[in-house]
Amino acid sequence: MIFPTLNINESLKAIKPIIQGGMAIRVSTAKLAAAVANCGGVGVIAASGLTKDELIAQIKQARELMQNNDGLLAINIMFAARDFKDLVHTAMNEGIDLVIFGAGFSRDIFSVGQEYNIPIIPIVSSTKLAVIAKKLGASGIIVESGEAGGHLGTSKIIRDLIPEIKNALAATEGYFKKNIPIIAAGGITSGKDIIEMLKLGCNGVQMATRFVLSKECEVAEEFKKLYIKSKSKDLVLIESPVGLTARAIKTKFVEKFLNGEPVASKYCKSCLKKCSRSFCIMNALHQAQKGNLDEGLFFSGGNIEKYNEILSVEEIFNKLEEEAKEALTVEHALK
Ligand SMILES: Cc1cc2nc3c(=O)[nH]c(=O)nc-3n(C[C@H](O)[C@H](O)[C@H](O)COP(=O)(O)O)c2cc1C
Repeated sequence: MIFPTLNINESLKAIKPIIQGGMAIRVSTAKLAAAVANCGGVGVIAASGLTKDELIAQIKQARELMQNNDGLLAINIMFAARDFKDLVHTAMNEGIDLVIFGAGFSRDIFSVGQEYNIPIIPIVSSTKLAVIAKKLGASGIIVESGEAGGHLGTSKIIRDLIPEIKNALAATEGYFKKNIPIIAAGGITSGKDIIEMLKLGCNGVQMATRFVLSKECEVAEEFKKLYIKSKSKDLVLIESPVGLTARAIKTKFVEKFLNGEPVASKYCKSCLKKCSRSFCIMNALHQAQKGNLDEGLFFSGGNIEKYNEILSVEEIFNKLEEEAKEALTVEHALK
């Protein structure tokens, strides 16, 4: 096999080191997550914006669709969400394999993971948080670069960030006995990129934008068409109400927001712990999922231009492996 197994711990492994990034609202649902797990990767349901009952239904649906034990099922949840802890407990009670969280950092959640014996993996973008996460008992760390989609914690590129964080973690090895998996996220588009990340000492990668353009992703066709026609010049960075910079496609909604025109929604469910109220992010992301090009906020990774086709998840995995094989063959021939 071309790719190594992703070992979270002695008993929890995915036979392919590919995590499908969590994408709210309802972009990464049970159907996509199960398809990824069936290919041996880590399928991720985005829990942010779901009610407890919706999350339970999503986890049950994914488990029903999972046909083998090759991959794993995780949830992704924004720390910034008001019901962060509730949804983590809900997923753990439903027997989720892993909990991944980002958009902020929780120190308390690691002890909840230990209580349930369920691994917790934070998404971090700095050496400081990577070291703290390891110290607090993270079972792995997703290092996310400025090339990612959605909320960003840095402007650094993945090829600079990984060595920086790997070195900082290596310096702590005397203090913390266990070595934990490091996953690279942001801008990884091909099998060649995956090989490069593995060579930098990563144990796997997280990819998100690629999986929006999959047959199994349950967003409206308009969302996928917008992705296919978008180029890097169509991407912008905006200040999200969460208090973080985010990368999105410059749609009418984004243009209005950037021009200072009113875009705030009348309805507010106080879904975030802290919100600037510049607009309702839950509604804007929900509109995107429904394919509303005028009112939707379409998050996207910086390398969107590299994708021009909708494939099944199985075809995506096969393509990544083919590209990885090719990269290794070329490298071997050049030696
Ligand atoms: C449409 C979309 C929605 C996203 N939503 C979330 C989210 O809810 N939580 C999160 O931690 N990251 C989110 N992200 C970030 C991804 O999970 C992932 O880490 C990142 O986009 C990886 O880079 P790539 O898209 O270049 O592969 C989102 C990304 C996209 C493209």
